[in-house]
Amino acid sequence: MQLPETILVSGGAGFIGSNWLNLMVPRFPSCRFVNIDQLTYAGNLASVDAIGSESNYRFEHGDIRDRDAIRRIWEQHKPDTVVHFAAESHVDRSISGPTDFIETNVVGTLNLLEAFRGGFGGAQSRRFHHISTDEVYGSLGDTGLFTEETRYDPSSPYSASKAASDHLVRAYFRTYGLPVTITNYSNNYGPRQFPEKLIPLMILNAMEGKPLPVYGNGANVRDWLYVDDHCDAIWTVLTEGTPGETYNVGGNAEKTNLDVVHSICRIVAEELGKDSQELLELISYVKDRPGHDFRYAIDASKIRSELGWEPKETFESGLRKTVRWYLENTKWIDQVRSGEYRRWIDQNYSQR
Ligand code: NAD
Ligand code: DAU
Repeated sequence: MQLPETILVSGGAGFIGSNWLNLMVPRFPSCRFVNIDQLTYAGNLASVDAIGSESNYRFEHGDIRDRDAIRRIWEQHKPDTVVHFAAESHVDRSISGPTDFIETNVVGTLNLLEAFRGGFGGAQSRRFHHISTDEVYGSLGDTGLFTEETRYDPSSPYSASKAASDHLVRAYFRTYGLPVTITNYSNNYGPRQFPEKLIPLMILNAMEGKPLPVYGNGANVRDWLYVDDHCDAIWTVLTEGTPGETYNVGGNAEKTNLDVVHSICRIVAEELGKDSQELLELISYVKDRPGHDFRYAIDASKIRSELGWEPKETFESGLRKTVRWYLENTKWIDQVRSGEYRRWIDQNYSQR
């Protein structure tokens, strides 16, 4: 298999993109990685500090909604491959304001596809890999798993925008024959995740003795995937996946939200030498999310049998690594908690 020469990585200062770059830039020195990121509230250059001076890495500040910016970056770097992470990614934010989700997730994806289709003076196009979510499939009941054949049935403005972007990517394969692949993932967790999502929010609140807000009765189920396992899956599909195909990726770790919060309380208490009962008493049941999907669970047998990918981390080992990362990286936490994040948390989460 021929490795990509120059990979345009969108959203590489966000949670999953930065973890992917931190793993792949040193691992593949013959590939060039160009990170285009608008640095929204969720993008943080501190997350890519460690690779900032590597000779095969470049950062380009740019907005994927802006076709001229993409054209400029495309003409300068002539990528043969795109790995598309950039998105508005938080369901609660999409409920309070859907517009940015349509503009970045749908129009931004269209702009990158158009650049890839026209080449903008680039080299031979090898692969457009689109990062998507299991939320496009809607909600499961107590049983069953999402497969690549499951009908799309998104519930939130976020998942509807991701569904639209998946359809566009597939249409560019069928209509123009572009070599695209898509991966639909379950919930990721690990270092460098913005503390608005369940796991980092609960870790920080438990560390600081603040309330742990559980939506509804806490019985909703998610399938948790450690971010490094996800990053390996992306590389595997990028380099070995079949053009036009979709692969579902999950962590074999279905948990109720309440189970997740209990595990976080136990591990944070162990790491800080505290009594876990004290932390459990911080749990507070708050108003449920509108349109809250009950359960997500992934059938990952296609990527396992066709490409040999398996998650390596268990939920227990991955969660402990994650808790330790947040305990050891208080400077990163202070940086992401400044400004816009504070305002949003105050406006949206202060009443619960
Ligand atoms: P994130 O919110 O942490 O990061 C998103 C990144 O995209 C940020 O760096 C941000 O600055 C950048 N960005 C946003 N709008 C942009 C724009 N208009 N132009 C350029 N850059 C822009 O997201 P994440 O959790 O890392 O998710 C990455 C991808 O994976 C998304 O496509 C998301 O839908 C998908 N996904 C996430 C999860 C999860 O559990 N986090 C699970 C499945 C799929
Ligand atoms: O399944 C993949 C998706 O996982 C990704 O596509 C999204 O980008 C990502 O944000 C995530 O979506 P969720 O809505 O599942 O993640 P979130 O961390 O927001 O919530 C996880 C569960 O925890 C969900 O059932 C809602 C609940 N929750 C969340 C928060 C923030 C709470 O009970 N309390 C909270 O404070």
